[in-house]
Amino acid sequence: MSTATQSDSASASRLTSPSVAVVGATGAVGEEFLRVLAQRDFPIGELRLLASARSAGKELTFKGQTHTVQELTAESFAGVDLALFSADGSISKQYADAAVQAGAVVVDNSSAFRMTDGVPLVVPEVNPQAIAEANIGLREGQAPGIIANPNCSTIIMLMAVHPIHEAVGVKRIVVSTYQAASGAGAAAMRELETQTREALEGEVKTMEVFPFQYAFNIFSHNSAVGPDGYNEEEAKMVRETHKIWGQPAEGASVENTKITPTCVRVPVMRAHAEAINLTLANPLTEDEARTLLEQAPGVSIVDDREGNRFPTPLEASHADDCLVGRIRRDRSQPEGYGLDLFVCGDQVRKGAALNAVQISELLLK
Ligand code: A2P
Repeated sequence: MSTATQSDSASASRLTSPSVAVVGATGAVGEEFLRVLAQRDFPIGELRLLASARSAGKELTFKGQTHTVQELTAESFAGVDLALFSADGSISKQYADAAVQAGAVVVDNSSAFRMTDGVPLVVPEVNPQAIAEANIGLREGQAPGIIANPNCSTIIMLMAVHPIHEAVGVKRIVVSTYQAASGAGAAAMRELETQTREALEGEVKTMEVFPFQYAFNIFSHNSAVGPDGYNEEEAKMVRETHKIWGQPAEGASVENTKITPTCVRVPVMRAHAEAINLTLANPLTEDEARTLLEQAPGVSIVDDREGNRFPTPLEASHADDCLVGRIRRDRSQPEGYGLDLFVCGDQVRKGAALNAVQISELLLK
């Protein structure tokens, strides 16, 4: 085979059966990556499962085949085309460059690179064009690089708000989140389960992940609180939304959507809920809003006023679509200019693994 033909077939196989590495394969999101890749029949040449030294040798099943977890090192990425990162942000900072140097496209689930210039921050239903604009990809002429997956609360909010924003413009968002344990990883999910058992038996003894009792309680999001009183999760929702929408960063005088979030952890296992209040630039009726959301990809309407049935985290769990309901006019605002919504989305799935796999699918198209 000539060299040109060899490199043609190598670049073709990057598109038809890329070698895929999953970093953090033993975590809550890592395991979901494997489920989503299998369910969507994502084409994979070789699959490499990477985690900490603690998990090296552990066996995980993918499409009926057993794969042995390897310890993540800087040498783990030789021959890898696509690296899906879902360990801690510090791990992404330490190893994502090594993956890119080895020729891989990294889809990073952490916050490490989300706000970095030149790193597209992508929700496929909202701004898929950002990947092509950065010229990152697996196709001939495209370069290896990092694509960031937004924060789960940002993704779930935008799934409902973006179709409205596209149609009439959103001037202001007031959002309150009710966030599940999964966002803090597998250990937090185990802690919620253990504490719930302990509480029912009389005394909560296990408090390792959060400094508060989690079972039968709610508390302000566990990220650090800044000098302005907003915690890091809230700050992420604001700045990531502006980047995804291509708006200038927050500042009283700039032309952008004003966003004020309140993020709270609730004792729910794996789907976030969000109450969202919108101020609109142009008028929209309730019915028009419902029609827009019915047509939006990745959104299902659960909005039965008569039956008082609306989105719940349990119904959203393990589902691909974000559920939207409580679609109603905000009666405190001039008619047509205010809208309320209630959204539930699976944090592990659309908030993380599914969104990253959808980004990966865009690379193959
Ligand atoms: P491990 O299971 O070996 O600790 P979660 O967010 O659910 O807690 O998952 C975190 C993921 O990140 C796990 O797969 C975990 O692997 C992985 N991880 C944590 N620390 C490291 C590390 N130093 N090197 C590689 N992977 C790591």
